[in-house]
Amino acid sequence: MIEQHAKLLRGRILSFNAEPQGPEDHDAFDYIEDGALLIEDGLIAARGDYAAIKTMAPAGTVETDHRPHLITAGFIDTHLHFPQVQVIASWADQLLDWLNDYTFPAEQRFADRAHGERIAKGFYDLLISNGTTTAVAYCSSHPNSVEAYFSEAERRGMRMLGGKTMMDRGAPEALCDTAQSSYDDSKALLAKWNGRGRANYVITPRFAITSTPEQLEAAGALLKEHPDCHLQTHINENHNEIAYTRELYPQAKDYLGVYEDFGLLGPRTLLGHCIHMTEREKAVMQETASVAVFCPTSNLFLGSGLFNRADLQASGVRMGIATDIGGGTSYSMLSTLDEGYKVLQLQRQRLHPLQTFFWATLGNAEALSLEDKIGNLNAGTEADLIVLDARATLPMCLRMETATSLSDELFVLQTLGDDRAIVETYVAGEAQKVTIGAS
Ligand code: GUN
Ligand code: ZN
Repeated sequence: MIEQHAKLLRGRILSFNAEPQGPEDHDAFDYIEDGALLIEDGLIAARGDYAAIKTMAPAGTVETDHRPHLITAGFIDTHLHFPQVQVIASWADQLLDWLNDYTFPAEQRFADRAHGERIAKGFYDLLISNGTTTAVAYCSSHPNSVEAYFSEAERRGMRMLGGKTMMDRGAPEALCDTAQSSYDDSKALLAKWNGRGRANYVITPRFAITSTPEQLEAAGALLKEHPDCHLQTHINENHNEIAYTRELYPQAKDYLGVYEDFGLLGPRTLLGHCIHMTEREKAVMQETASVAVFCPTSNLFLGSGLFNRADLQASGVRMGIATDIGGGTSYSMLSTLDEGYKVLQLQRQRLHPLQTFFWATLGNAEALSLEDKIGNLNAGTEADLIVLDARATLPMCLRMETATSLSDELFVLQTLGDDRAIVETYVAGEAQKVTIGAS
């Protein structure tokens, strides 16, 4: 047996306990100027001052000094599409044209297992190089794509969530399943992957337009049979999408009512976009503890609209933030926070950088109900973490000459940073960024 040595990582450490209300809200986060993490068997064994942690390290511990960089929990991306790696940056009009002209053709290629395997390698390299250690993805409608997605995650030891997209109408035949086959395939994939290593299966009806009532019923049955699984779908992204959904489901109270009628809502339900919400929909989201997922780069790129965070928060709705690749335009959660900040700034809902970094880490972990495992650097959690360099580029270096606080540094990272600011990405305690391209 290979003996695994403990690891000690030294650096400036930031970990959140709750959403900070401002830089003085010291209960909400721990910041250690000369800090260290002790990592054993893929878990964080201890966090504290370097001097204290050093005394706890067993003989043979391998020490890495990341000073002067900042160590935080790895980023979590709560909504993106694995088969859209080659859809990103497609010149389209709004959502429905973009789906028909670019997205559905690209997803058809995932019938081929070898294509899925090749794209999966690039997909995970991109996540790792951008400091994303957990993501929640839609695979294509082909079970092959789910195999490729989870197999590559397993090879890298990553905690990943995802599932087969269920879609039985409104798309090319080659992409359509049936209510029965989508139920059977999802159930078999779920049985194989859910809880295997770090994989979590997500029941994935694409959205109301591409599902018959029979298929949404099948999705509801799956969720009922597997209440430990998440469910993801899209809602209220685009005005034409909403109008067409209302035509297809005239008996529903509203768009959310469609999903409500089939038992798809609950604390493990992730609803992408949630831009154009009615008062009733917000109330039902709150009652069911369903999660609204903000996808800023996608909402800007597809001209979908402005996510109203303050309004949803006032209604008590849980929220995540995500890239939505390939409607979204960047794999970077730093860029996603930057664009999210601007979407909210347009509505006079400016977030403090401590709030945005909380959102991309512990906030998204809470949105997934996984905060006991990921999203913070507490002892006992999984050692998924990143090393951030706020001086990674010339614009960042020059701006950092005038930075006077941790908040300044975070805001520089968010506004000017990208994958170049990610010095290292540790997955279950293993440095992975350095190995990209070696596979
Ligand atoms: N609605 C249904 N499918 C999709 C998708 O792939 N991307 C986005 N942004 N919205 C959707
Ligand atoms: Zn999406």
